[in-house]
Amino acid sequence: MTLQTISKGPFEGQKPGTSGLRKKTRVFMQPGYLECFVQATFHAIGGAAGKSFVIGGDGRYFNREAIQTMLKMAAANGAAKAIVGQGGLLSTPAVSNLIRQRKTDGGFVLSASHNPGGIDADFGVKYNVSNGGPAPEHITQAMFEHTQNITEYTTLDAPDIDLSTCGTGQIGGMQVEIIDPVEDYQALMQTLFDFDKLRALFAGGFTMRFDAMHAVTGPYAKAILEGALGAPTGTVINAVPSEDFGGGHPDPNPVWAKTLMDEMMSDAAPDFGAASDGDGDRNMIVGRGTYVTPSDSLAVLAANAQLAPGYAGGLAGVARSMPTSGAADKVAEKLGLGSFETPTGWKFFGNLLDAGKVTLCGEESAGTGSDHVREKDGLWAVLLWLNILTERGQSVAEILTDHWATYGRNYYSRHDYEAVPTEAADALMQGVRDKLDSLPGQSVAGVEITAADEFSYQDPVDGSVSHNQGLRIWLAGGGRAVLRLSGTGTEGATLRVYLEQYADPEADQGVSPDVALKAVRDAVVEITQMQQHIGRTEPDVKT
Ligand code: G6P
Ligand code: ZN
Repeated sequence: MTLQTISKGPFEGQKPGTSGLRKKTRVFMQPGYLECFVQATFHAIGGAAGKSFVIGGDGRYFNREAIQTMLKMAAANGAAKAIVGQGGLLSTPAVSNLIRQRKTDGGFVLSASHNPGGIDADFGVKYNVSNGGPAPEHITQAMFEHTQNITEYTTLDAPDIDLSTCGTGQIGGMQVEIIDPVEDYQALMQTLFDFDKLRALFAGGFTMRFDAMHAVTGPYAKAILEGALGAPTGTVINAVPSEDFGGGHPDPNPVWAKTLMDEMMSDAAPDFGAASDGDGDRNMIVGRGTYVTPSDSLAVLAANAQLAPGYAGGLAGVARSMPTSGAADKVAEKLGLGSFETPTGWKFFGNLLDAGKVTLCGEESAGTGSDHVREKDGLWAVLLWLNILTERGQSVAEILTDHWATYGRNYYSRHDYEAVPTEAADALMQGVRDKLDSLPGQSVAGVEITAADEFSYQDPVDGSVSHNQGLRIWLAGGGRAVLRLSGTGTEGATLRVYLEQYADPEADQGVSPDVALKAVRDAVVEITQMQQHIGRTEPDVKT
């Protein structure tokens, strides 16, 4: 085994976003591309010497090859230990948990989350730090700077390690431990939820469908739902991770998880349905005939979490991203909990969780989680829902109806306009920005605008400030619209329009969301001059 220093780089555009570096798979497969990014990451954290890392991914195309490359590089850079999921698999929340449980210096998640996989699709690498959460901005910034100057990387000329068998091996001076990807995660879930009661629930005939979308939660859901909890075989569908996620989009929303949605809306629907994304951090919750928006899911979990053993002592507070509906705020207000509004991106919850200011957090983009790890956690959300369902003995629809009767309903929908030319999207946003001050008092599409601003966030823990986090427009009668450009799109710009309409507990809660949100939507189309800027007013995706 010889140490090799290979001249390569720099490569352009290796700037990690909120979720690490995401590129087309073929970009990552260029000789030296992944290597230069990994070497830059090691530089940014002060070198890998003596350090330990967790490494795993969602099983997409190039996952195992990338892990072999990274292991040899870690060993060549002097790392002491790598903990790797068997077969190269680890979900994002499982990586976060392992970093914390095994007290490693950090970890690498190989995933492009809910983006499709395959040689012509997407790949990604994200670095998480020792609290288990995504690297904060000063580290991602340092990584980017190193990627711009890098001219060589170091690796070992060593044979591949067998990832398929659990056990301990060695590459150069580095120990490699291949572990069962599920075991530690399942142990954590057992500390939070009442597995005996959940077993009794399934034994009593409760029916469920979990769609793993051919992605990483398959083995986790099989082991926990069908194994530990005794749900019948077949409860988990699409359970074998595939390199291209069965040719689909592993994104748990009504559009991409259509098969599950169709079943849940049919006469043969089981009691409960759920899905998770490529790397297992997102979730979708559906009752029989009832879709639960992620914003409502966060609010219901916040209102009922104390029914699960892990949260029996109550919650410190609840945080949501700004575009997420205010439903969770209503719960926090009524229960006297701290409540926080952060920019989009899970990393903004990290400080609040570390400081003990919040216990639960969630985003409209189908992420919910708690202080048990420092990532959002799809299966955790499903288990918390199950624990609440069993304690309350009600259906999802009944729980929602009760919730809205207590706290009011925040009708909500997100409209995405994809692949918009970047200049057109920027011009639309700038047009609204320019007239923000003059909007309040104006009447648009028959509704009065009461306030408008651009969201800035000051982190209450470290005082750091993040500007330009989305445009907000409030309307008389409880309406709100938010406009943002996606930070994760890969083609042109994705304009996200978030529509919300609050209806208080006494109001009619049974209106269809499209109808309840029509006035807000009409106002947005007019305020943004959408037709003029992007040539259309109909979104590509509504969630
Ligand atoms: C990722 C992040 C989330 C974020 C989501 C949407 O999944 O982990 O925290 O909410 O992307 O981001 P976007 O910028 O595309 O709206
Ligand atoms: Zn994800």
